Amino acid sequence: MTQALTRNLSLELVRATEAGALMAGRWMGRGDKEAADGAAVDAMRQVLGTIEMDGVVVIGEGEKDEAPMLFTGERVGRGDEPKVDIAVDPVEGTRLLAQGMPNSIVVMAVAERGSLYGWQDVAYMEKIAVGPDAAGAIDIELPVGENLQRIANAKAVEVSDLTVVILDRPRHEGLIRDVREAGARMKLIVDGDVAGGLMAAMPGTGIDVLMGIGGSPEAVITACAIKCIGGEMQTRIWPRNDDERTVVRERGLDVSKVHQLDDLVQSEDVFFVATGITDGELLRGVHYFADGATTHSLVMRERSGTVRYVESSHQLRKLRELTDLPFD
Ligand code: FBP
Repeated sequence: MTQALTRNLSLELVRATEAGALMAGRWMGRGDKEAADGAAVDAMRQVLGTIEMDGVVVIGEGEKDEAPMLFTGERVGRGDEPKVDIAVDPVEGTRLLAQGMPNSIVVMAVAERGSLYGWQDVAYMEKIAVGPDAAGAIDIELPVGENLQRIANAKAVEVSDLTVVILDRPRHEGLIRDVREAGARMKLIVDGDVAGGLMAAMPGTGIDVLMGIGGSPEAVITACAIKCIGGEMQTRIWPRNDDERTVVRERGLDVSKVHQLDDLVQSEDVFFVATGITDGELLRGVHYFADGATTHSLVMRERSGTVRYVESSHQLRKLRELTDLPFD
Protein backbone atom coordinates (compact mmCIF):
# COMPACT_ATOMS: atom_id res chain seq x y z
CA MET A 1 0.00 0.00 0.00
CA THR A 2 1.44 3.36 -0.97
CA GLN A 3 1.20 6.19 1.55
CA ALA A 4 -0.57 8.27 -1.06
CA LEU A 5 -3.73 6.14 -1.02
CA THR A 6 -4.88 7.45 2.31
CA ARG A 7 -7.81 9.50 0.98
CA ASN A 8 -11.14 7.86 0.35
CA LEU A 9 -11.10 8.58 -3.37
CA SER A 10 -14.48 6.95 -3.93
CA LEU A 11 -16.28 9.93 -2.41
CA GLU A 12 -14.71 12.10 -5.12
CA LEU A 13 -15.11 9.51 -7.87
CA VAL A 14 -18.85 9.32 -7.31
CA ARG A 15 -19.17 12.85 -8.67
CA ALA A 16 -17.87 11.48 -11.98
CA THR A 17 -20.29 8.54 -12.14
CA GLU A 18 -23.16 10.86 -11.14
CA ALA A 19 -22.25 13.29 -13.93
CA GLY A 20 -22.04 10.39 -16.40
CA ALA A 21 -25.48 9.13 -15.35
CA LEU A 22 -27.06 12.60 -15.48
CA MET A 23 -25.92 13.03 -19.08
CA ALA A 24 -26.51 9.47 -20.27
CA GLY A 25 -29.92 9.27 -18.57
CA ARG A 26 -31.36 11.68 -21.17
CA TRP A 27 -30.82 8.94 -23.77
CA MET A 28 -32.95 6.33 -22.02
CA GLY A 29 -35.07 4.44 -24.55
CA ARG A 30 -33.97 6.62 -27.46
CA GLY A 31 -32.30 3.78 -29.30
CA ASP A 32 -28.92 5.47 -29.70
CA LYS A 33 -26.24 3.53 -27.79
CA GLU A 34 -23.33 5.61 -29.13
CA ALA A 35 -24.86 8.96 -28.18
CA ALA A 36 -25.64 7.70 -24.68
CA ASP A 37 -22.14 6.36 -24.22
CA GLY A 38 -20.55 9.53 -25.62
CA ALA A 39 -22.58 11.71 -23.26
CA ALA A 40 -21.45 9.70 -20.24
CA VAL A 41 -17.81 9.67 -21.36
CA ASP A 42 -17.72 13.48 -21.87
CA ALA A 43 -19.14 14.15 -18.45
CA MET A 44 -17.01 11.64 -16.59
CA ARG A 45 -13.80 12.74 -18.20
CA GLN A 46 -14.41 16.34 -17.23
CA VAL A 47 -15.04 15.51 -13.58
CA LEU A 48 -12.15 13.02 -13.40
CA GLY A 49 -9.89 15.82 -14.62
CA THR A 50 -10.59 17.77 -11.41
CA ILE A 51 -9.59 14.94 -9.03
CA GLU A 52 -6.22 15.02 -7.29
CA MET A 53 -4.68 11.80 -8.62
CA ASP A 54 -2.43 10.45 -11.36
CA GLY A 55 -4.71 7.93 -13.00
CA VAL A 56 -4.13 5.66 -15.98
CA VAL A 57 -7.15 4.12 -17.68
CA VAL A 58 -6.38 0.40 -17.90
CA ILE A 59 -9.91 -0.64 -18.79
CA GLY A 60 -11.72 1.95 -20.86
CA GLU A 61 -13.50 2.68 -24.08
CA GLY A 62 -10.98 0.82 -26.25
CA GLU A 63 -7.70 1.82 -27.84
CA LYS A 64 -6.82 5.46 -28.59
CA ASP A 65 -7.61 5.32 -32.33
CA GLU A 66 -11.15 4.05 -31.77
CA ALA A 67 -12.02 6.02 -28.63
CA PRO A 68 -11.44 9.77 -28.35
CA MET A 69 -11.72 9.77 -24.55
CA LEU A 70 -11.24 7.47 -21.59
CA PHE A 71 -9.27 5.16 -23.89
CA THR A 72 -6.97 2.51 -22.51
CA GLY A 73 -3.68 4.18 -21.60
CA GLU A 74 -5.17 7.69 -21.17
CA ARG A 75 -3.95 9.70 -18.16
CA VAL A 76 -6.65 11.30 -16.05
CA GLY A 77 -6.61 13.40 -12.89
CA ARG A 78 -4.76 16.57 -12.00
CA GLY A 79 -2.16 15.43 -9.50
CA ASP A 80 1.08 13.51 -9.10
CA GLU A 81 -0.33 11.32 -6.36
CA PRO A 82 -1.90 8.91 -5.76
CA LYS A 83 -0.79 6.83 -8.75
CA VAL A 84 -3.76 4.66 -9.64
CA ASP A 85 -5.25 2.37 -12.28
CA ILE A 86 -8.75 3.21 -13.48
CA ALA A 87 -11.25 0.70 -14.85
CA VAL A 88 -14.29 2.44 -16.24
CA ASP A 89 -17.46 1.52 -18.09
CA PRO A 90 -19.34 4.78 -18.71
CA VAL A 91 -22.47 2.86 -19.68
CA GLU A 92 -22.51 -0.77 -18.55
CA GLY A 93 -25.50 -2.13 -20.45
CA THR A 94 -25.66 0.21 -23.45
CA ARG A 95 -28.53 -1.79 -24.98
CA LEU A 96 -30.41 -1.71 -21.67
CA LEU A 97 -30.18 2.08 -21.66
CA ALA A 98 -30.98 2.49 -25.36
CA GLN A 99 -34.11 0.35 -24.91
CA GLY A 100 -35.12 1.77 -21.53
CA MET A 101 -34.60 -1.54 -19.74
CA PRO A 102 -33.54 -1.98 -16.08
CA ASN A 103 -30.05 -2.05 -14.59
CA SER A 104 -27.91 0.10 -16.85
CA ILE A 105 -25.27 1.72 -14.67
CA VAL A 106 -22.20 3.94 -14.82
CA VAL A 107 -19.39 2.08 -13.16
CA MET A 108 -15.79 2.75 -12.21
CA ALA A 109 -13.12 1.11 -10.08
CA VAL A 110 -9.80 2.53 -8.97
CA ALA A 111 -6.87 0.64 -7.48
CA GLU A 112 -3.15 1.01 -6.93
CA ARG A 113 -1.07 1.36 -10.10
CA GLY A 114 -0.34 -1.97 -11.78
CA SER A 115 -2.73 -3.99 -9.65
CA LEU A 116 -5.56 -4.78 -12.08
CA TYR A 117 -5.52 -7.93 -14.25
CA GLY A 118 -4.41 -7.24 -17.84
CA TRP A 119 -7.24 -9.00 -19.70
CA GLN A 120 -6.26 -7.89 -23.22
CA ASP A 121 -7.02 -10.07 -26.26
CA VAL A 122 -9.31 -12.71 -24.81
CA ALA A 123 -12.58 -10.80 -24.56
CA TYR A 124 -14.61 -13.21 -22.45
CA MET A 125 -14.26 -14.97 -19.14
CA GLU A 126 -16.27 -17.66 -17.41
CA LYS A 127 -17.35 -16.27 -14.03
CA ILE A 128 -18.81 -17.32 -10.72
CA ALA A 129 -19.41 -14.73 -8.00
CA VAL A 130 -21.06 -14.73 -4.59
CA GLY A 131 -21.39 -12.48 -1.55
CA PRO A 132 -19.65 -12.76 1.84
CA ASP A 133 -22.10 -15.36 3.16
CA ALA A 134 -20.97 -17.87 0.51
CA ALA A 135 -17.32 -16.85 0.23
CA GLY A 136 -15.14 -19.95 0.44
CA ALA A 137 -17.93 -22.21 -0.81
CA ILE A 138 -17.46 -21.87 -4.59
CA ASP A 139 -15.13 -23.70 -6.95
CA ILE A 140 -15.48 -22.92 -10.68
CA GLU A 141 -13.95 -26.31 -11.52
CA LEU A 142 -16.81 -28.20 -9.88
CA PRO A 143 -20.09 -29.03 -11.64
CA VAL A 144 -22.85 -26.42 -11.43
CA GLY A 145 -25.06 -28.55 -9.17
CA GLU A 146 -22.25 -29.08 -6.70
CA ASN A 147 -21.49 -25.37 -6.51
CA LEU A 148 -25.17 -24.64 -5.89
CA GLN A 149 -25.29 -27.24 -3.10
CA ARG A 150 -22.21 -25.73 -1.47
CA ILE A 151 -23.65 -22.21 -1.72
CA ALA A 152 -26.95 -23.44 -0.24
CA ASN A 153 -25.07 -25.14 2.63
CA ALA A 154 -23.09 -21.97 3.35
CA LYS A 155 -26.30 -19.94 3.47
CA ALA A 156 -28.18 -22.64 5.40
CA VAL A 157 -30.91 -22.83 2.74
CA GLU A 158 -32.05 -25.38 0.14
CA VAL A 159 -30.80 -25.24 -3.46
CA SER A 160 -34.41 -24.51 -4.44
CA ASP A 161 -34.19 -21.30 -2.39
CA LEU A 162 -31.26 -19.98 -4.44
CA THR A 163 -31.53 -17.62 -7.41
CA VAL A 164 -28.80 -17.65 -10.05
CA VAL A 165 -28.31 -14.66 -12.35
CA ILE A 166 -27.15 -15.55 -15.87
CA LEU A 167 -26.74 -13.57 -19.11
CA ASP A 168 -29.37 -14.81 -21.56
CA ARG A 169 -27.12 -16.12 -24.33
CA PRO A 170 -27.13 -19.26 -26.54
CA ARG A 171 -23.69 -20.14 -25.13
CA HIS A 172 -25.38 -20.66 -21.75
CA GLU A 173 -27.77 -23.36 -22.91
CA GLY A 174 -25.87 -26.09 -20.98
CA LEU A 175 -25.46 -23.93 -17.89
CA ILE A 176 -29.16 -23.05 -17.83
CA ARG A 177 -30.06 -26.74 -18.15
CA ASP A 178 -27.70 -27.65 -15.28
CA VAL A 179 -29.15 -24.94 -13.01
CA ARG A 180 -32.69 -26.12 -13.77
CA GLU A 181 -31.73 -29.74 -13.13
CA ALA A 182 -30.21 -28.75 -9.79
CA GLY A 183 -33.55 -27.13 -8.90
CA ALA A 184 -32.43 -23.54 -8.33
CA ARG A 185 -34.34 -20.47 -9.48
CA MET A 186 -32.93 -18.32 -12.24
CA LYS A 187 -32.92 -14.73 -13.37
CA LEU A 188 -31.92 -14.37 -17.01
CA ILE A 189 -30.63 -10.92 -17.87
CA VAL A 190 -30.43 -9.31 -21.29
CA ASP A 191 -27.12 -7.56 -20.54
CA GLY A 192 -25.08 -6.20 -17.69
CA ASP A 193 -23.22 -8.85 -15.77
CA VAL A 194 -21.43 -6.25 -13.61
CA ALA A 195 -24.84 -5.40 -12.15
CA GLY A 196 -25.48 -9.17 -12.02
CA GLY A 197 -22.31 -9.72 -9.98
CA LEU A 198 -23.18 -6.83 -7.68
CA MET A 199 -26.66 -8.25 -7.10
CA ALA A 200 -25.15 -11.64 -6.24
CA ALA A 201 -22.75 -10.10 -3.73
CA MET A 202 -24.96 -7.48 -2.07
CA PRO A 203 -27.50 -8.50 0.56
CA GLY A 204 -31.20 -7.98 -0.01
CA THR A 205 -31.29 -8.24 -3.81
CA GLY A 206 -32.80 -11.73 -3.96
CA ILE A 207 -29.87 -12.98 -6.07
CA ASP A 208 -27.38 -15.50 -4.66
CA VAL A 209 -24.84 -16.19 -7.38
CA LEU A 210 -23.68 -14.97 -10.80
CA MET A 211 -22.70 -17.72 -13.22
CA GLY A 212 -21.69 -17.77 -16.88
CA ILE A 213 -19.52 -16.22 -19.55
CA GLY A 214 -19.32 -12.46 -19.99
CA GLY A 215 -16.84 -9.72 -20.84
CA SER A 216 -13.29 -9.85 -19.43
CA PRO A 217 -13.15 -6.10 -18.67
CA GLU A 218 -16.47 -6.46 -16.86
CA ALA A 219 -14.94 -9.35 -14.88
CA VAL A 220 -12.15 -7.13 -13.58
CA ILE A 221 -14.58 -4.33 -12.68
CA THR A 222 -16.89 -6.81 -10.93
CA ALA A 223 -13.91 -8.26 -9.05
CA CYS A 224 -13.12 -4.79 -7.66
CA ALA A 225 -16.66 -4.53 -6.33
CA ILE A 226 -16.66 -8.05 -4.89
CA LYS A 227 -13.37 -7.34 -3.16
CA CYS A 228 -14.90 -4.28 -1.49
CA ILE A 229 -18.01 -6.23 -0.45
CA GLY A 230 -15.97 -9.18 0.85
CA GLY A 231 -17.46 -11.88 -1.38
CA GLU A 232 -15.71 -14.30 -3.68
CA MET A 233 -15.27 -14.52 -7.44
CA GLN A 234 -13.42 -16.94 -9.70
CA THR A 235 -12.88 -16.74 -13.47
CA ARG A 236 -11.27 -18.59 -16.38
CA ILE A 237 -10.48 -17.09 -19.78
CA TRP A 238 -12.89 -18.22 -22.51
CA PRO A 239 -11.52 -17.83 -26.06
CA ARG A 240 -14.54 -17.30 -28.32
CA ASN A 241 -13.08 -18.02 -31.77
CA ASP A 242 -10.04 -19.29 -33.67
CA ASP A 243 -8.27 -15.91 -33.51
CA GLU A 244 -8.47 -15.93 -29.74
CA ARG A 245 -7.49 -19.60 -29.57
CA THR A 246 -4.39 -18.67 -31.59
CA VAL A 247 -3.60 -15.85 -29.14
CA VAL A 248 -3.97 -18.30 -26.27
CA ARG A 249 -1.62 -20.78 -27.95
CA GLU A 250 1.00 -18.20 -28.99
CA ARG A 251 1.14 -16.58 -25.58
CA GLY A 252 1.06 -19.83 -23.70
CA LEU A 253 -2.09 -18.76 -21.80
CA ASP A 254 -3.79 -21.46 -19.78
CA VAL A 255 -7.56 -21.72 -20.33
CA SER A 256 -7.88 -24.01 -17.33
CA LYS A 257 -6.19 -21.57 -14.94
CA VAL A 258 -8.56 -20.35 -12.27
CA HIS A 259 -8.20 -16.65 -11.57
CA GLN A 260 -9.03 -15.91 -7.96
CA LEU A 261 -10.14 -12.49 -6.74
CA ASP A 262 -6.57 -11.57 -5.79
CA ASP A 263 -5.34 -12.45 -9.30
CA LEU A 264 -7.90 -10.11 -10.83
CA VAL A 265 -7.25 -7.29 -8.34
CA GLN A 266 -3.94 -7.42 -6.56
CA SER A 267 -4.40 -4.22 -4.60
CA GLU A 268 -5.53 -4.11 -0.99
CA ASP A 269 -6.85 -0.59 -1.58
CA VAL A 270 -9.66 -0.63 -4.09
CA PHE A 271 -12.41 1.89 -4.68
CA PHE A 272 -15.63 1.08 -6.50
CA VAL A 273 -18.45 3.42 -7.52
CA ALA A 274 -21.60 2.86 -9.55
CA THR A 275 -24.51 5.18 -10.33
CA GLY A 276 -27.82 3.92 -11.73
CA ILE A 277 -28.96 5.21 -15.11
CA THR A 278 -32.15 3.17 -15.48
CA ASP A 279 -34.05 1.83 -12.46
CA GLY A 280 -32.88 -1.59 -11.28
CA GLU A 281 -32.83 -4.03 -8.36
CA LEU A 282 -29.69 -2.49 -6.96
CA LEU A 283 -29.87 1.18 -7.82
CA ARG A 284 -32.57 3.60 -8.86
CA GLY A 285 -31.93 5.31 -12.16
CA VAL A 286 -31.81 9.03 -12.87
CA HIS A 287 -35.14 10.75 -12.22
CA TYR A 288 -35.54 14.22 -13.70
CA PHE A 289 -37.69 17.05 -12.35
CA ALA A 290 -37.98 20.76 -13.16
CA ASP A 291 -34.37 21.82 -13.80
CA GLY A 292 -33.07 19.07 -11.57
CA ALA A 293 -32.53 15.36 -11.16
CA THR A 294 -31.84 12.73 -8.52
CA THR A 295 -29.18 10.04 -8.71
CA HIS A 296 -28.57 6.90 -6.66
CA SER A 297 -25.05 5.50 -6.27
CA LEU A 298 -23.13 2.75 -4.54
CA VAL A 299 -19.76 3.84 -3.13
CA MET A 300 -17.32 1.35 -1.62
CA ARG A 301 -13.78 1.08 -0.36
CA GLU A 302 -12.06 -2.22 0.20
CA ARG A 303 -9.61 -1.04 2.85
CA SER A 304 -12.27 0.27 5.23
CA GLY A 305 -15.02 -2.11 4.10
CA THR A 306 -17.45 0.79 4.05
CA VAL A 307 -20.40 0.48 1.69
CA ARG A 308 -22.38 3.65 1.14
CA TYR A 309 -25.50 4.37 -0.82
CA VAL A 310 -25.45 7.99 -1.94
CA GLU A 311 -28.68 9.69 -2.93
CA SER A 312 -28.11 13.06 -4.54
CA SER A 313 -30.33 15.82 -5.72
CA HIS A 314 -28.80 17.93 -8.48
CA GLN A 315 -29.77 21.42 -9.58
CA LEU A 316 -28.94 21.41 -13.25
CA ARG A 317 -28.96 25.22 -13.67
CA LYS A 318 -26.27 25.55 -11.01
CA LEU A 319 -24.24 22.69 -12.48
CA ARG A 320 -24.37 24.37 -15.90
CA GLU A 321 -22.89 27.51 -14.32
CA LEU A 322 -20.16 25.59 -12.50
CA THR A 323 -19.01 23.31 -15.30
CA ASP A 324 -18.68 23.27 -19.08
CA LEU A 325 -21.14 20.40 -19.30
CA PRO A 326 -24.42 20.95 -21.13
CA PHE A 327 -26.61 19.52 -18.34
CA ASP A 328 -30.09 19.82 -19.84
P1 FBP B 1 -22.00 -3.19 -22.99
O1 FBP B 1 -22.40 -2.30 -21.91
O2 FBP B 1 -20.63 -2.88 -23.50
O3 FBP B 1 -23.05 -3.22 -24.04
O4 FBP B 1 -21.85 -4.67 -22.38
C1 FBP B 1 -22.95 -5.33 -21.85
C2 FBP B 1 -22.63 -6.77 -21.50
O5 FBP B 1 -23.86 -7.44 -21.28
C3 FBP B 1 -21.71 -6.97 -20.30
O6 FBP B 1 -22.33 -6.75 -19.09
C4 FBP B 1 -21.28 -8.40 -20.50
O7 FBP B 1 -20.12 -8.73 -19.77
C5 FBP B 1 -21.07 -8.47 -21.98
O8 FBP B 1 -21.91 -7.43 -22.54
C6 FBP B 1 -21.44 -9.78 -22.58
O9 FBP B 1 -21.09 -9.78 -23.91
P2 FBP B 1 -22.04 -10.32 -25.08
O10 FBP B 1 -23.18 -9.36 -25.22
O11 FBP B 1 -21.16 -10.32 -26.29
O12 FBP B 1 -22.49 -11.67 -24.69
